[in-house]
Amino acid sequence: MMLTLTKIKTASRRLILLPLLTGLPLSALSAPATEHGSRSLDQQLRARLNNHNVTQVTPPPSQPPALVALGRNLFFEKEISGRRNISCATCHNPLLGSADGQSQSRGQGAIGLGPARRQNGDEYFQFLPRNTPSLWNRGVAQWTTMFWDGRLGGTPETGFFSPAGAATPQNFSSALAAFTIIPVTPDEEMRGFPGQTDIFGQANEMSELGNEDFVQIWDLVTARVTAHDGYNDLLANAFPGVPESELDISHIGEAIGAFMTDEFTALNSPFDLYLKGNNKALSKRAKRGALLFYGRANCVNCHSGGLQTDLDFHNIAAPQVGTGRGDAAPLDLGRGAITQDPADNFKFRTPSLRNVELEAPYFHNGAYAKLADAVRHHLDPQTSLANYDATQIEPELSGMFVNDADTINTLLTTLSPKLSVSGDPLSEREINQILAFLSALTDPGSLNKLNVVPDQLPSGLSLAD
Ligand code: HEC
Ligand code: HEC
Repeated sequence: MMLTLTKIKTASRRLILLPLLTGLPLSALSAPATEHGSRSLDQQLRARLNNHNVTQVTPPPSQPPALVALGRNLFFEKEISGRRNISCATCHNPLLGSADGQSQSRGQGAIGLGPARRQNGDEYFQFLPRNTPSLWNRGVAQWTTMFWDGRLGGTPETGFFSPAGAATPQNFSSALAAFTIIPVTPDEEMRGFPGQTDIFGQANEMSELGNEDFVQIWDLVTARVTAHDGYNDLLANAFPGVPESELDISHIGEAIGAFMTDEFTALNSPFDLYLKGNNKALSKRAKRGALLFYGRANCVNCHSGGLQTDLDFHNIAAPQVGTGRGDAAPLDLGRGAITQDPADNFKFRTPSLRNVELEAPYFHNGAYAKLADAVRHHLDPQTSLANYDATQIEPELSGMFVNDADTINTLLTTLSPKLSVSGDPLSEREINQILAFLSALTDPGSLNKLNVVPDQLPSGLSLAD
């Protein structure tokens, strides 16, 4: 038995050497070997990962437990929303892959959780213009760009920018922490519309302000938190030596950021184990899928690095379905609306594909309900747009689908040239291999997050909806 194995190994080593011995050009060595060829699947894949600098992701530093404990309560805390009815977890539900399972998210004026969340009777309601992203690995150091259009970001070294402009606090430890103070400001998200009372029928002191009154809103949110005795100890433990009068929104943000970093770092997928050197961590099918992803299918052109994102912006001609955003509605110009450069129109930040299986529906507007269809779209955007079936998204949004010839033409003329499959189109079998690879990006620890949910909140508000 041993002997046979040794023989085989020697034979295959000879095969690898063969081109050199026979004087074949060196390039023949790097030519893609077939699965029956001389190089094993693992050798091929490891070489390709190496070529593309795909290495183990450095986890963020461990977060101070007292800061995480405070942040955990604040993440589920409805007291920080104008009407005391919405928390971060309403949309970033840890039991739903840290998102909400909706194409576009529903904030004020809606009720219910996850896919069941709907407008609350005839309350004034407005969709958020985009799909709720998941929060996996946002605390990793390289993650410095937030939002589908990158309108917030930075590092402690470069400083932070955000929709709050000059009012953006600069004392955060990460872009993730800098992000946390933004969702409380828009009326349709957490703050509430004028005239809408809170769940106890009391006036909402934030509702008459404008979306741009960042500092006033932040002060009111901070006051809501410090007013509850239940938060005194949590705050004192998280910020020892800082008197209550000196606490501001950046303390609240830092705590929520620490919680998300602690809870949503997900770097224990089969692919991570493979990157650590365990060849058995991936199935053959997933390895073949990875070879395509990092090879012929060129997914790595944008989904690069350990987190499968270059954090850059590209137009892949997503179907223009849903409400759209801003002046361009019912279209969404994405990055173009931020830079005001038409060349950036329809570009969105490349999503990380970590835990992507848990993240349906897909794209910035949740256009695709199924992962396979989101992948297929990349392979032939033109056909995908022509055949797009809007009934796969919520009925209130499916009617808002812009597919006139002009729009389709504009979408396709600025399509990213990085979107390309080398050689023949992918077969069904190859698409399934890519899907098997995407599956191997799921961290099993992300599947059950029930233990994250606090038993009760310092404000006494209900966790149910
Ligand atoms: C009503 C639903 C809703 C609520 C409530 C909400 N979010 Fe979000 N969140 C979204 C949507 C939608 C986006 C994407 C918006 C965009 O890109 O234009 C987003 C984006 C994010 C991002 C950026 C992720 C990335 O990769 O770009 C983070 C981080 C985040 N939210 C954290 C929070 C925190 C913390 C809270 C509570 C303070 C919160 N969210 C409250 C819906 C919500
Ligand atoms: C030109 C850059 C580019 C290339 C190449 C590319 N993608 Fe994407 N991908 C994107 C962008 C940008 C989005 C988001 C589009 C949007 O929201 O409108 C996306 C979205 C996705 C999504 C949905 C993720 C989510 O959270 O919504 C999946 C899955 C995906 N890509 C897989 C792939 C696969 C597999 C390949 C190779 C066959 C690939 N991509 C090639 C840029 C690219």
